[in-house]
Amino acid sequence: MLRVNGTGRTVTVEPRTTLADALRDRLGLHGTHLGCEHGVCGSCTVLLDGAPVRSCLLFAIQCRDSEVTTIEGLADGDVLHPLQRAVDLVSANIWKATATVRMWVPISDTTWPSHSAL
Ligand code: FES
Repeated sequence: MLRVNGTGRTVTVEPRTTLADALRDRLGLHGTHLGCEHGVCGSCTVLLDGAPVRSCLLFAIQCRDSEVTTIEGLADGDVLHPLQRAVDLVSANIWKATATVRMWVPISDTTWPSHSAL
């Protein structure tokens, strides 16, 4: 039994199943991402009894009877947590900047235009 985002969830896993795999593959919580799977990148971070942990480094069975909070658990139903909204804005702006630069390259013929040329 895991408590995930405030709800008791019964999940059957192999002893070697990581918490990340249990969350993603068994419980369908795909907000927990896998990157390095070595505890380095942090993309699998969840809260375990309120403390951040790398879910790729924990076996699901170790988390039995603990409270797990995933990114999905931060939202209040369909309303994103303010932190989620802030990250969403930052991501969108990074994407816009990246996309703008990437689209500019074929147009500019590798030289940057002056402000007056714009
Ligand atoms: S997947 Fe990179 S720290 Fe877990």
